Amino acid sequence: MRTRVLGTNLQSSEIGLGCMSMSGAYGIHDDGESLAALHRAVELGITLFDTADVYGPFANEAFIGHGLGAVRDRVLYVTKFGLVRTSAGQHLGVNGTPDYVRRSCDLSLQRLGTDRIDLYLQHRVDPHTPIEETVGAMAELVAAGKVGHIGLSEASADTIRRAHSVHPITVVQSEYSIWSRDVEDEILPVCRELGIGFIAYSPLGRGFLTGAIANPSDLAVNDYRHKDPRFQGGAFDANKALVSVVQEIAAELGCTPAQVALAWVLSRGDDIVPIPGTKRRRTLEENAGAVDVVLTPAHLARIEERMPAGSTAGERYADMSEIAPAEIGR
Ligand SMILES: NC(=O)c1ccc[n+]([C@@H]2O[C@H](COP(=O)([O-])OP(=O)(O)OC[C@H]3O[C@@H](n4cnc5c(N)ncnc54)[C@H](OP(=O)(O)O)[C@@H]3O)[C@@H](O)[C@H]2O)c1
Repeated sequence: MRTRVLGTNLQSSEIGLGCMSMSGAYGIHDDGESLAALHRAVELGITLFDTADVYGPFANEAFIGHGLGAVRDRVLYVTKFGLVRTSAGQHLGVNGTPDYVRRSCDLSLQRLGTDRIDLYLQHRVDPHTPIEETVGAMAELVAAGKVGHIGLSEASADTIRRAHSVHPITVVQSEYSIWSRDVEDEILPVCRELGIGFIAYSPLGRGFLTGAIANPSDLAVNDYRHKDPRFQGGAFDANKALVSVVQEIAAELGCTPAQVALAWVLSRGDDIVPIPGTKRRRTLEENAGAVDVVLTPAHLARIEERMPAGSTAGERYADMSEIAPAEIGR
């Protein structure tokens, strides 16, 4: 596994691991298999592990700390704060106040069983707290040695600029994949201008780009994607036709659609690290293999022609100001 540098000096494996579904979100979780997947990821050279306090809620951080504690010095813990939930998953809003930032960090450190979070992200920007105040508190955590680097998730270009003027932002994390390209307009350019790295979440289109979901009814009843606009009725069918180009190219290359989707994200710049999410060893190994898949200019042009930016049916979220409680709960 090769490495990439995020921001000016955070070295990560070329592909990270999104751990959200190990604690729910996309159907039934399996702790034994997920633990084995965490260990296999380390064997494969994956160093960046993405979690959040709300995944589980709260269970995912503890699971990561338990699973990776023995190799703590070889891996990066990325976690997030700001989406307030009860342990039963009830949504209580977004909080970016300095006091909440400090308390959240201490609780995440406890759950992860570590004395330092390598990369600490604000999960969603709090519209009622100036970003300067939130980032000021995050900067204090860096000064105290509790946090190595800081970043923002799903922030606007203006917010990124304001935040970066308070303390260097190492990473912006947002959704980015063949079917979610909004960040190309303003977010990636501002990151590049300011020397900020980018973590691409949901790089497999929440699984859709893998071609493995034939029908929305295949999803478990508690699967968050039942509420995802892109997985609904007509949108699902339209998107299925659209992503057939990914399957076509995979067949030509003798690889899998998931590998094509990840190779596409990797091809968008060496300042980008995708974090495909999985809870299983088999798909983890498949995804790690994407680093060796090379898309030619002709492949990239065909994807551009058949699936141009903005062609996906349905919004990314039913309500962009939030993520549904079901996404983060078991
Ligand atoms: N900052 C944010 O607001 C935010 C939001 C969403 C996600 N994230 C982070 O980003 C990570 C990745 O995003 P994501 O999990 O939403 O979406 P994703 O990586 O695009 O897709 C994950 C889905 O694809 C399935 N999958 C993975 N590899 C596969 C393969 N090779 N073949 C077939 N299916 C495969 C997974 O199945 P299984 O789960 O069954 O293995 C899961 O259902 C999350 O784990 C989380 O850490 C961050």
